[in-house]
Amino acid sequence: MKTEAIKLKRPDMRRYLVPFNTGSVPQMFTDCLVIGSGIAGLRAAIEASDSCDVVVACKAELEESNTWNAQGGIASVLDSTDSFAEHIADTLKTGCGINDEEIVERVVKDGPELVTQLDKWGTEFDTHNGKIDITREGGHSHPRIAHAQGDCTGRAIAQALIRKIRQNEAITVVENFFAIDLITDDENNCLGIIGCSGTGTKQIVWAKTTILATGGAGRLYRETTNPNIATADGLAMAARAGAVLCDMEFMQFHPTTLYIAGASRALITETLRGEGAILLDINRQTFMKEYHPDAELAPRDIVSRAILSQMLKTGSTHVYLDIRHFDKAHFSKRFPLINELVESFDIDVSKDLVPVRPSAHYMVGGVKTNSSARTGINNLYACGEVASTGLHGANRLGSNSLLEGLVFGKVAGREAIANAAKKPSVMSLHKLKYEVPQSDRSRLDTADVLNSLRALMWRNVGITRSDQPLAEAQEIITFWQRYVLDKVFDSPGGWECQNMLTIACIMAKAAQGRTESRGVHFRKDFPEIDDKRFKTHIEFA
Ligand code: FUM
Repeated sequence: MKTEAIKLKRPDMRRYLVPFNTGSVPQMFTDCLVIGSGIAGLRAAIEASDSCDVVVACKAELEESNTWNAQGGIASVLDSTDSFAEHIADTLKTGCGINDEEIVERVVKDGPELVTQLDKWGTEFDTHNGKIDITREGGHSHPRIAHAQGDCTGRAIAQALIRKIRQNEAITVVENFFAIDLITDDENNCLGIIGCSGTGTKQIVWAKTTILATGGAGRLYRETTNPNIATADGLAMAARAGAVLCDMEFMQFHPTTLYIAGASRALITETLRGEGAILLDINRQTFMKEYHPDAELAPRDIVSRAILSQMLKTGSTHVYLDIRHFDKAHFSKRFPLINELVESFDIDVSKDLVPVRPSAHYMVGGVKTNSSARTGINNLYACGEVASTGLHGANRLGSNSLLEGLVFGKVAGREAIANAAKKPSVMSLHKLKYEVPQSDRSRLDTADVLNSLRALMWRNVGITRSDQPLAEAQEIITFWQRYVLDKVFDSPGGWECQNMLTIACIMAKAAQGRTESRGVHFRKDFPEIDDKRFKTHIEFA
């Protein structure tokens, strides 16, 4: 039996970030609008294009996404000595008792066919003895991570899907388009979006189905593996439209991000540890065995906290990854991206240690969806990192996210087809008007607000948490919200700032509400799991 979720009230917020009058804004019509160009959005667009016309709108270029940056791979049962039962068990164990078991089973079982389809569509996974090669990551009891072009898996998958999209006449791609808000009517129907093109022109896209695939929120943190575009926009616009947000306290931190002053915090894939890399503290001592019997291959929340604790013990800003024992030629072939990255800082992995530390990586929570990728708003679907399907529970098993995006991208695309078939062929033009009172915007430096927000989130809503800093974070964010959220901005920097403040506050509130430690959410003041009160979800509605 599923336990009832704990319901919290979503903070009050203005319905739309910008005023508009549909009578005076350029309009576009489509059967299916997909917002975002990671694996979930691309896969959804391809599926829907079977019998819908589709618009894919993305904030930057199609190539800019968390998917593109994914290194390790995609998890799936691809070997006869592995089994669905083991992949399911690993996912449930890592998720700490609050995964949706039906969703886990579905995603795991759909995996092999869809991964093989990606291969046929041109992803060219690395092979061994003529079969897709698989490797290991933390929390997986069996090697089951398929990879492509070494550590360029995400890029190889995205390139194959983008090629298909570009060749598909049913799909129109609109790049550098900022989706500002979902448009809804009084009957809880999503009608499309209001957005802004790269040239600054507002535009309405009316859609029979809207699929949110906008990714996560890593840029809320000072230290993150995420690209600049991961600013919680989809989460915030869904919240403003009245969708339920679930599990927002669960931000996953990746244990190993390159830590070199001045360098961007690039991901150093976990598959390196899967293939034998060792963590050393600043005194060149191994330490992971002190924290978990699986040492370097413990689940990533445990490795992240162990690194943090060792940094505190030794008074240092980082630890090291030791790959000096790897064969140098094999390393550069198997991990070309990391090889190029470290070489650019004159690090010779056969002699030097690689400085690393944890950083914000993946939003486990998101817009609540059901097994059909449906949100609580009619015609609005969500898939990929922006969605909370129940697959991950309180912690995501490495490389399960590309798999989830693939499976639910396809589901959402199929739903769009069914939805379009139920609707009249000619879409009606809705007459809607929204006004916002004028407010003074001249004295606001949003970049400064965001720097402060990222530092605050890292300090107070980070890897380890406790009541007082979480309360303080909400107080400070609410203060910033008072003079940022009432403004009307006319460019993405301002809208991003508003979106990030909105979601940061919800995350801090959820984290304060969960007075236990579960999965990626660790409370120093409540270090134990509390199944009596919290074997459930926290939802904002
Ligand atoms: O370490 C990695 O390659 C990350 C994989 C993931 O987040 O799934």
